[in-house]
Amino acid sequence: MHLLGPSLLLLEYLAFSDSSEWKFERPHTLYSWDGACVWIPCKYKIPRFSEALENLTLYRNYEYDDATKNFKGSILYEDRKPWNYTFHPKRVQVLGDRSSNCTIFINPVLEQDNGHLGLRLITKTDRWMEKIDLNVSKTPLSPHIQLPPEIRESQEVTLTCLLNFSCPGYQIQLQWSLEEPGITLTTLTTLTTKTVSTQSKLTFQPHWTHHGRNLTCQLWDHNAERIVSEETVLLDVKHAPKEVTTVIQNPTRIREGDTVTLSCNYSSSNPRVTRYEWDFQGFRRENSPGMLIIQKVAWDTMPITCAACNQWCSWAPSVNLDVQHAPKDVRILQISPSSEIHSGYRVLLGCNFSSSRPRDVHFFWKKNGIFLKEGKELGFDSISPEDAGSYNCFVNNSIGQTMSEARMLRVLYAPRKLRVAISPKDQVMEGKKAVLTCESDANPPIFQYTWFDWNNQNLHHYDQMLRLDPVKIQHSGAYWCEAANQLGRAQSPPSTLTVYYSPETIGRRVAVGVGFCLATLLLAFWGVKLQRSWKRIRSQQGLQESSSGQSFFVRKQKVRRAPLSEDPHSLGCYNPVMEDAISYATLRFPVGETDTPRPGDAGTLETEGPSPNRDDTVTYSVLQKRRVGDYENVLPDSPEDEGIHYSELVHLGVGERPLAQDAVEYVTLKH
Ligand SMILES: *[C@@H]1O[C@H](CO)[C@@H](O)[C@H](O)[C@H]1NC(C)=O
Ligand SMILES: *[C@@H]1O[C@H](CO)[C@@H](O)[C@H](O)[C@H]1NC(C)=O
Ligand SMILES: *[C@@H]1O[C@H](CO)[C@@H](O)[C@H](O)[C@H]1NC(C)=O
Ligand SMILES: *[C@@H]1O[C@H](CO)[C@@H](O)[C@H](O)[C@H]1NC(C)=O
Ligand SMILES: *[C@@H]1O[C@H](CO)[C@@H](O)[C@H](O)[C@H]1NC(C)=O
Ligand SMILES: *[C@@H]1O[C@H](CO)[C@@H](O)[C@H](O)[C@H]1NC(C)=O
Ligand SMILES: *[C@@H]1O[C@H](CO)[C@@H](O)[C@H](O)[C@H]1NC(C)=O
Ligand SMILES: *[C@@H]1O[C@H](CO)[C@@H](O)[C@H](O)[C@H]1NC(C)=O
Ligand SMILES: *[C@@H]1O[C@H](CO)[C@@H](O)[C@H](O)[C@H]1NC(C)=O
Repeated sequence: MHLLGPSLLLLEYLAFSDSSEWKFERPHTLYSWDGACVWIPCKYKIPRFSEALENLTLYRNYEYDDATKNFKGSILYEDRKPWNYTFHPKRVQVLGDRSSNCTIFINPVLEQDNGHLGLRLITKTDRWMEKIDLNVSKTPLSPHIQLPPEIRESQEVTLTCLLNFSCPGYQIQLQWSLEEPGITLTTLTTLTTKTVSTQSKLTFQPHWTHHGRNLTCQLWDHNAERIVSEETVLLDVKHAPKEVTTVIQNPTRIREGDTVTLSCNYSSSNPRVTRYEWDFQGFRRENSPGMLIIQKVAWDTMPITCAACNQWCSWAPSVNLDVQHAPKDVRILQISPSSEIHSGYRVLLGCNFSSSRPRDVHFFWKKNGIFLKEGKELGFDSISPEDAGSYNCFVNNSIGQTMSEARMLRVLYAPRKLRVAISPKDQVMEGKKAVLTCESDANPPIFQYTWFDWNNQNLHHYDQMLRLDPVKIQHSGAYWCEAANQLGRAQSPPSTLTVYYSPETIGRRVAVGVGFCLATLLLAFWGVKLQRSWKRIRSQQGLQESSSGQSFFVRKQKVRRAPLSEDPHSLGCYNPVMEDAISYATLRFPVGETDTPRPGDAGTLETEGPSPNRDDTVTYSVLQKRRVGDYENVLPDSPEDEGIHYSELVHLGVGERPLAQDAVEYVTLKH
């Protein structure tokens, strides 16, 4: 390149042969533009055995003329020994010492200068033509931005804006469009025989937001006082996916059991996202389309998050699906008391649940399936045994309602509602069986019963049932019981057991009574005859009881005299003299007490009673004897007994007995 002419080839040959040559140091190509300047740093060495430089010429776009064997072209500068001849067109200067420094300065440089320069150096023995490329453009040069191979976010990087131009006579400045804190700028001007350039270095930590932005380096011309050229590059900042979000695609609010679609969204990624990861219910799963479909979503689904990945993965903040559901885990709490519930105390039940969405809920209560009331709490100011039962609490929201498990409310109370139940019935015939049961209501159950009789005598019987088998006449009377559990004791009201005579006993007693009757009638007859003045007969009304224990009689509240007057002859034991003293009573046997009269009894007592149409009636007649002080049956110490009472069985019917009349009572025949 620097050996162009054939003569130079020869020179080169000579130079090599004697190991001496011209040596130049200068930039290969120099760049400038019309109106600016060019400074060409240059050094050279004259071959060792040559003499001093004699001639120096600077050509512009020279050519070698084969005819003249010389170079021709426009001469920009010329000088020769004794260095008093000069052609100095002022704008072109060859500086230096004419021995080794060949620095050239052209100011201003013109567009016509574009091309190459030729520096012709001649000594007495040697000649040299040095070609220097000069690129002068019409418009100012554009700076060149040099980027590192990769820019990563947060990794410090230096960008260089380079202009292959530097000229001491022409002031320029390189400036960047990026003006942010944290940016360091260094400007470097190089003007050496190797490099002529102006550089500006930009050092900063790129942010991912710098990705895709234009970065411009501008050339500021101080002479023109304006930006004369610029270069723009698009910043390519590698970064992980940014602003990753988990997006719920469902258009409406999610309810338990719905199908939920989620997508993983991001705003920026360099390079592009290649895959996604999901964190769902504690499991990592990977997929490419960036969608997650959840079938039948659970009410307690945990927050979900996704990651978008290129060579780095970025996780999104987790999203809560906020799944709407009916209240969960509804349960009844016993707020007070904390332990057993005793009747009469204040009781408060509460209802609670673990989760409900939406939170707006209604509470209501049911007892044994029947609506009770609304409210979170169910209170009893004074709980009663009747409040015991199965309780449910319900909690509903706009999604649905949930029922608690049933809670059995047990109320403890002392015995109550005590009563003595008599079986088979209150009136029992002697010889049969009677069972008295102490019925009660208590919680906890009764552990002890105590029985008492009409005299409040403790019977020392501690069972719930009192069996009288066989029942005796003496068992008649009122019974009551007492029952106790852990909480207390209670007494029943008395219940009366009535024991009837059996027909056998009645028959036996009547037979004895008839004998007495006849004997007494005779005695009375004689007594009437003898003592006529003794007429007063005491009324038989009211209760009469023989305390003497010597007579058998029937007590009746109302004396029925009419049948007597109608048919006095029907009486089996009739005493016309003692008419006023005779009264009747009707005795009826209780139903079910079947008993056929014995032949002996029936034969003796054949006449009908006062109600002839009622075969089952038995009529007794009572004779009241006037007070006879010496009569053997009358005790002198019982003044109320003004007579002797006899009874007579008039008729003993066969068949079913009608129900007993209350008005009839039996009394004991005492001997
Ligand atoms: C120097 O250059 C001039 C002009 O080209 C020329 O006339 C002169 O002869 C040269 N001198 C020598 C010694 O070659
Ligand atoms: C340069 O100097 C030489 C000798 O000293 C003289 O002959 C010549 O005329 C001078 N040339 C000019 C242009 O002055
Ligand atoms: C060459 O000359 C120029 C101008 O006088 C000067 O600036 C430069 O330093 C010189 N170069 C050397 C290598 O001495
Ligand atoms: C001058 O430089 C520009 C850009 O550097 C280039 O495109 C052009 O070809 C060069 N001109 C010459 C004559 O070398
Ligand atoms: C600037 O000069 C360097 C070498 O000095 C060269 O590699 C580069 O291509 C030049 N730039 C332009 C824009 O010509
Ligand atoms: C970046 O510069 C180019 C031209 O260099 C332009 O087309 C583009 O709109 C610019 N972009 C921005 C974001 O400024
Ligand atoms: C996804 O992200 C982009 C960019 O941030 C945004 O424009 C778009 O609206 C997002 N999509 C959804 C569904 O949020
Ligand atoms: C009700 O349930 C919630 C959630 O489980 C709990 O935080 C709160 O303590 C419960 N309230 C009562 C009174 O137990
Ligand atoms: C909950 O139930 C009550 C009673 O059944 C009803 O009045 C109320 O509207 C319900 N509330 C909701 C949110 O469905």
